[in-house]
Amino acid sequence: MPTRLGVRDVNVAGKRVFVRVDFNVPIEDDEIADDTRIRAALPTIEYLREHRARVVLASHRGRPSGEPLPELSLAPAAIRLAELLGAAVPLAADCVGEPAADAVSALAPGDVVLLENLRFHAGEEANDDAFAAQLAQLADVYVNDAFGAAHRAHASTAGVAKLLQPAAAGLLMESELQHLGDALENPERPFLPVLGGSKVSDKIAVISRLLQVSDGVLIGGAMAYTFLVAMGRQVGDSLVERDKIDVARDLLIQALKLGKPIYLPIDHVATQEFSATAETRVAYRDTIEEGWEAVDIGPATREMYGRILERARTVVWNGPVGVYELEPFAHGTISIAKTLSTLDATTIIGGGDCVAAVEMAGVADRMTHISTGGGASLEFLEGKELPGVAALSIAQ
Ligand code: 3PG
Repeated sequence: MPTRLGVRDVNVAGKRVFVRVDFNVPIEDDEIADDTRIRAALPTIEYLREHRARVVLASHRGRPSGEPLPELSLAPAAIRLAELLGAAVPLAADCVGEPAADAVSALAPGDVVLLENLRFHAGEEANDDAFAAQLAQLADVYVNDAFGAAHRAHASTAGVAKLLQPAAAGLLMESELQHLGDALENPERPFLPVLGGSKVSDKIAVISRLLQVSDGVLIGGAMAYTFLVAMGRQVGDSLVERDKIDVARDLLIQALKLGKPIYLPIDHVATQEFSATAETRVAYRDTIEEGWEAVDIGPATREMYGRILERARTVVWNGPVGVYELEPFAHGTISIAKTLSTLDATTIIGGGDCVAAVEMAGVADRMTHISTGGGASLEFLEGKELPGVAALSIAQ
C-alpha cells in the first residue's frame, strides 16, 4: 500500500484548508451522547490552527438523503467542538453557496468554521462533479481526517480530492491507516483476530482475508451457530443463516487447507427470552435444546479463548461475542475485553459494538488503538482499497 501524503507534509500557513471530518456522532435530545469522533479529530484541527491555516471543516451526519433535515444539523457538533477547542466554531448554514463562501471569507489564520451537513445535498453521496467543484471553491488544500467515512466514494471524500491538490491525510487518518495497516502487513505473531457479530454474511470477506494473514481466527456471536450447523452440530433455536451454511463450510475448509485454526465456542449461554432479567442456562456442545437460543459464549469458552489469546502478540477484535447490550448475555464480550487489556500485545478494536464493550469493561485506555471506523475498518481489514484513501496524494 503506498504511503499517502500527510498534513504535516503540506504548507498550510494562511491557506484555506478543507478538512473532511467524521462528526457522525450519536445525538440524543440535542446532546452529544458520545463525542469520541470529535475528540479524535482534535489533533489535526489543533495542528492546523497552530500552523495558521484557515480551517474549513465538513462532515456528514446521518442519512438525510439530500434533504436538509433540521434534526440532522451539525449544530450540536459545532457547539461541542467549540467547547473542546476553547475557541469559536461558527456553523455555516449551508456547506456550499453564499453561506459557505461568506463564512470561509470571514476566517483569519487559525480560525475554524464548520459547514452544515454535506448530505443535505444529493450531490454528496452521488459524488457529483458539480457539487465537488462547489466544495473545492472554498479551499486551497484538501485534508481527509474522516477515516470512518473513507469507505464511501462521495464528493467530499473522493471527488473534491481530485480538484484540490495536494490531498493529504489528517493525523487521525494517518494513525488509523498505520495501526490497521501494520496489523495486516506486518503483525507481531501470533496474530489472532477475534470476530463476532450476528451474521456470517457480514464477515465472510474479513474472515477469509484474516485467515490468510493471521495465525488463526476466534469466532463468537450468533454467526458461530452457522459454522456449528455446517459442522453438523445441534444449535437449538440459535440464529442460523441457512443460506450461508455452505459459505461457513467453505471457510472451514479454507482454514484446514491453510493449516490455520478457526476456533468456535464449546459452550454457550442460552435463553428463552431477550431481557435483562432473562433466565439463562449453560449448554455444552450439542445440548442447546429446542426453544433455547444461544446468546453468548459460555464459561468454558471464555476460559479457552482467554488461554488462546494469552499467547497473542497482535489481536484485532471486530464484533461482540454475545448480545452484550443485555447484562445476562454480556459476560463473554466483557471477558474478551478484559483479557485483551492484560495482554502484552498490540490490540486493535474496530466497530462501534466492540468500542462500547471495551468502554463498558473500563479498559478502553488499555487498548493500543480504537478505530473510529465501523464499516471503514471492516472494509480495510477485508483488504479493500478505501476510496477516501485512494483519492489522497501519494507521498514522494
Ligand atoms: C459511520 O458511522 O460508520 C460513518 O460515519 C459512515 O456513515 P454511513 O454508513 O452513513 O456512510
